[in-house]
Amino acid sequence: MKAKARAHTNIALIKYWGKRDEELILPMNSSLSITLDRFFTETTVSFDQQLDRDYFWLNNQEADQLETGKITAFLNKVRTLAKLNCFAKVESINHVPTAAGFASSASGYAALAAASVKAAGLSLSLRELSQVARQGSGSACRSIYGGFVEWQKGENPDGTDSYAVPILDQDSWDLRVLSIEVTKETKQVLSRVGMKQTVETSPFYQGWLAAAESELRTAKQAIANCDFSLLGQTLEANALKMHATTLGTDPPFRYWKSETMQVMEEIEALRAQGLESYFTIDAGPNVKVVCQPETEQELSKALAQLKVVQNIYSCRIGPGVSYIAI
Ligand code: DP6
Repeated sequence: MKAKARAHTNIALIKYWGKRDEELILPMNSSLSITLDRFFTETTVSFDQQLDRDYFWLNNQEADQLETGKITAFLNKVRTLAKLNCFAKVESINHVPTAAGFASSASGYAALAAASVKAAGLSLSLRELSQVARQGSGSACRSIYGGFVEWQKGENPDGTDSYAVPILDQDSWDLRVLSIEVTKETKQVLSRVGMKQTVETSPFYQGWLAAAESELRTAKQAIANCDFSLLGQTLEANALKMHATTLGTDPPFRYWKSETMQVMEEIEALRAQGLESYFTIDAGPNVKVVCQPETEQELSKALAQLKVVQNIYSCRIGPGVSYIAI
């Protein structure tokens, strides 16, 4: 009753921002991401009749009650599916910088979902697995697949049509992502809290929903044609709109710091000089820059000159979830 899995992080080009169901984690809008090779989580799950509760070890340290409680809530869904009634030990190693904006919940829940369903004796399709991962953290459903991935929001209240689908594989289009770290501070407003507040109070939210739908269509078309400029313009505009919604909430909040703006302005300046790249930002102050292989090094060198840049992690498009023999 033991299994080990690895899953990679992903970065959304069209963002998931807002839920229509908090418990099942069903999104208001469809989203689109690329899975990254550089950051991943490895998780081992063993179900054991001898255990008196669930145990969760993260990076070789036992997690506190709150974190373990979240794992238990997720494992309960797997136990229900598998008709299993014993506790588990979960050991996770995160190969993801813990700094703000490098989503580890995506790789974390994708790896946990894969390891726990296998350890529980279930044999699920990748689509079913993505539905299970979704119930841990929405963005995790996209990390089941490598390459370019769409999370189709679905319509059904029970979530049976809300899952990720692969749209272009890892080797079909070589894009690069520079993850620019400007601060190691942990984020003030968790994405889960931020998106809830936005749905409930931001007058800009309806505009976001309408725009996200048409930007998703444009992004898919750009991917189908490997049209970098169109994809880049679309993903940057989408990130800006997501962040704009947070300015209208009650109370208002924002994820950007002045350092974030400096990186954004530098990308625009470099673009004006002919070095084409586009930025996107998640629920934190760090910036991800999407570029093509031929400009990656020059861009990285230019960005490293900025005083506010602490680290640059250069990523390629990565694979989906995999099992590791134990
Ligand atoms: C801004 O997937 O972390 O990164 O479903 O509440 O766990 P929960 O949220 P999460 O949100 C990710 C938000 C985002 C955009 C994205 O990845 O699509």
